[in-house]
Amino acid sequence: MVQTIHVKTPDGRYDILFEAGALGRIADIFEGYGLHGRTIVGTNATLSPLYGRAVTERLPDAVTVTLPDGEQYKTLETAAAVYSGLVKLGLDRTGLIVALGGGVIGDTMGFIAATYMRGVRLVQIPTSLLAMVDASVGGKTGLDLPEGKNLVGAFKQPEVVIIDTDVLASLPDVEWRCGLAEVVKHGLLADPALLDANLLQRDRAAEFVPRAVQVKVDVVEQDPFEQDIRAHLNLGHTFAHALEVISGYTWKHGEAVAVGLVAAVRLSARLGLCDSNLPAQVETLLQQLRLPTHLGRYNPASLWQAMAADKKWRGGHPRFVLLKGIGKPLIMEDVAEDTVLSVLAELSDYE
Ligand SMILES: NC(=O)c1ccc[n+]([C@@H]2O[C@H](COP(=O)([O-])OP(=O)(O)OC[C@H]3O[C@@H](n4cnc5c(N)ncnc54)[C@H](O)[C@@H]3O)[C@@H](O)[C@H]2O)c1
Ligand SMILES: [Zn+2]
Repeated sequence: MVQTIHVKTPDGRYDILFEAGALGRIADIFEGYGLHGRTIVGTNATLSPLYGRAVTERLPDAVTVTLPDGEQYKTLETAAAVYSGLVKLGLDRTGLIVALGGGVIGDTMGFIAATYMRGVRLVQIPTSLLAMVDASVGGKTGLDLPEGKNLVGAFKQPEVVIIDTDVLASLPDVEWRCGLAEVVKHGLLADPALLDANLLQRDRAAEFVPRAVQVKVDVVEQDPFEQDIRAHLNLGHTFAHALEVISGYTWKHGEAVAVGLVAAVRLSARLGLCDSNLPAQVETLLQQLRLPTHLGRYNPASLWQAMAADKKWRGGHPRFVLLKGIGKPLIMEDVAEDTVLSVLAELSDYE
């Protein structure tokens, strides 16, 4: 089934195209969108043999640029090496960059497309579930610094986002489940139909991925530059980022998001904002999806300190995205430290 979501941006619009098997028809799709010219397919060493080379071969005047696989390469050093490569390959301002990969490739090649020669056209072809439902939508790109993640970046809207759910067949199981944590987040924010244990079945992806993407599209259209309600997309993420930091990034983002969602929903219930049954409902679903719902051995006080250092807590004021119920997010400032700590203590084995 072919489906298209039209996204409005501050200066135009683009399509997100959902088509199982799209990569096999990539030349026709590019033709249909009028995408011609020198093309660089940026991908990584894992995805190049799986999909990258095949995509490049099908496109006229295309070359593959293969980056090493891993978040540790989402850096200015990688970007600098790619810029030099693009000059050697003769890419000028009429050129086109295709980001074929997970969120790391999307962010890296997206940032390069935003900045090389003051910007060239970009096509996003997300291959991980997380990149499909989150990273490829909304125009944010970024690189990490030694001081922290995503500290350098640019907004860059793509010409088109092409989502071929067939590629999810090769995604490692842990990456699949991590992507599901973001799908559950979107379900909690705006679409209860996404709160379904059937998400575990990959052959259902063609049905639920467009729904999950629609939730993010609806938010970023209203707030393209992240000044207002786009913050709702951080549901569970204040907790998740802190857990990632204090675990030295041994926790994967999606796993940390799952626990973060539990913490956010429990805090919402504790503050009397939502139905007291919501936490149990969310925890049961996450367990069915084989995602963690518990912090393990971490000290709630260390987690609080890591949260207080989060760049999103402007001026050090605690700031949480909470829920009045499914589909009813709100932002709350100055939640009492004791209340947060007692919720975290319920989720922790720390003594
Ligand atoms: N720009 C944004 O708005 C935004 C939003 C969310 C996350 N992000 C960024 O996205 C990144 C995380 O993205 P991610 O979870 O996709 O990680 P990732 O890009 O590292 O991909 C995860 C792993 O799966 C592999 N992989 C991807 N697709 C595959 C496939 N179809 N088959 C086999 N293997 C496959 C990758 O090679 C990698 O090893 C982070 O850097 C994060 O900051 C950006
Ligand atoms: Zn996330």
